[in-house]
Amino acid sequence: MSAPPAFRVVERCRVCAGGSLEPILDLGATPLANAFVRPGTATEDRYALELIRCATCGLVQLSIVVDPEVMFRSYAYSSSASPPLLEHFDALAEDLVGRFAPAGSFVAEIGSNDGVLLRPLVARGVRALGVEPAGEQAAIANAAGLETVNTFFSSGVAGELESARGRARAVVATNVLAHVDDLRDVMIGLDRLLDRDGVFVAEVPYLVDLLDHVEYDTVYHEHLSYFAVGPLRRLFADAGFELFEVRRLPIHGGSIRVHAGRKGARPVGAEVEAMVEAEERAGLHDASAYRRFAERVFRSREALRELLDRLKAKGHGLAGYGATAKGNTLLNYCRIGPELIEFIADTTPQKQGLLTPGTRIPVVAEARFLEQQPDYTLLLAWNYADAIVRRRADYVARGGRFIHPIPLAKVI
Ligand code: TYD
Ligand code: ZN
Repeated sequence: MSAPPAFRVVERCRVCAGGSLEPILDLGATPLANAFVRPGTATEDRYALELIRCATCGLVQLSIVVDPEVMFRSYAYSSSASPPLLEHFDALAEDLVGRFAPAGSFVAEIGSNDGVLLRPLVARGVRALGVEPAGEQAAIANAAGLETVNTFFSSGVAGELESARGRARAVVATNVLAHVDDLRDVMIGLDRLLDRDGVFVAEVPYLVDLLDHVEYDTVYHEHLSYFAVGPLRRLFADAGFELFEVRRLPIHGGSIRVHAGRKGARPVGAEVEAMVEAEERAGLHDASAYRRFAERVFRSREALRELLDRLKAKGHGLAGYGATAKGNTLLNYCRIGPELIEFIADTTPQKQGLLTPGTRIPVVAEARFLEQQPDYTLLLAWNYADAIVRRRADYVARGGRFIHPIPLAKVI
């Protein structure tokens, strides 16, 4: 007997419970994007990778939910591994302490990873506590003295934390809401944990940037929801909260940072309504914008395949840079394997020596990449394009060229 499938099909929208869900983009069946494989192991499981949209509230989401225990308990992603992220979280800590949670106050972070935000909070005198389901990341944080509870956040966990520690001045969740299936339970937890006039701060990738820049590769099984301000505002409102501030951020291909408090607790910035209106004008609440997007995704794949095939036919050596989750969506969707791209360089020691899931391209250290000096290198971590091109100025100086894959493949 085979094991039961470790996923469920989405039948109701996780924001509004509406049952009218329309397909918008089918990326095929792909393996889990962070499941890099050891050479010689059997074929990895594949799961449908399909975007759907709720006709009622507009939330864009995946058509299935893979068991979170499968995806997040052994989650190798380390936030502190990226220098640009360190700066980002230091600035966030500064803003939190300056405006909402002064030294001495209690702040809880959902999805605290290896403590990349806890650290600058603690350094500023905040009593910061993390909640993190990935065992390895939680252990790294605790070993560094950054207190972290190793569990998935839920209303139950929030109640326990509140009993033990009291209410939080601020609750923070960066790059977490998109990973959460039961968003309404998180809202109940927030209600239990947050002070009367406390602030919830969340960062999520922004759907408008995904659509505008054809960032289809940021679609993978870990990302269950793709937020615009409209559906997000509704999620909060249904739970008695109110979005009072929204800012766009350049991080992760374009994100938003939203601030929410209890209804009526704080003045609501004019940008909140303005962004919802702009989303409506951009057609985010009808089908046409998504048909256009699906066509652009298809063209993007054609352009990338054509460019790589042409370079290969001319006898050029091709490699990739950045063994990313998004890279695995892109490689699988575009059907790019080792016959086109010989290897992918990445600085993460845990990924080196493994193969990309589904496409089986070897991940190697930068040393190998520099030795071999491939003629063209596909940027699979395009969100760090500037940092990588600067870091590997040596490769470029010797005549190497990077290819930026989206919206349309381009040699840079
Ligand atoms: P990330 O941007 O987190 O992408 P995803 O969420 O799609 O996995 O991944 C960044 C990857 O790129 C990570 O494996 C480290 C690697 N990287 C380098 O190898 N060198 C670099 O200079 C940078 C900035 C990243
Ligand atoms: Zn909905």
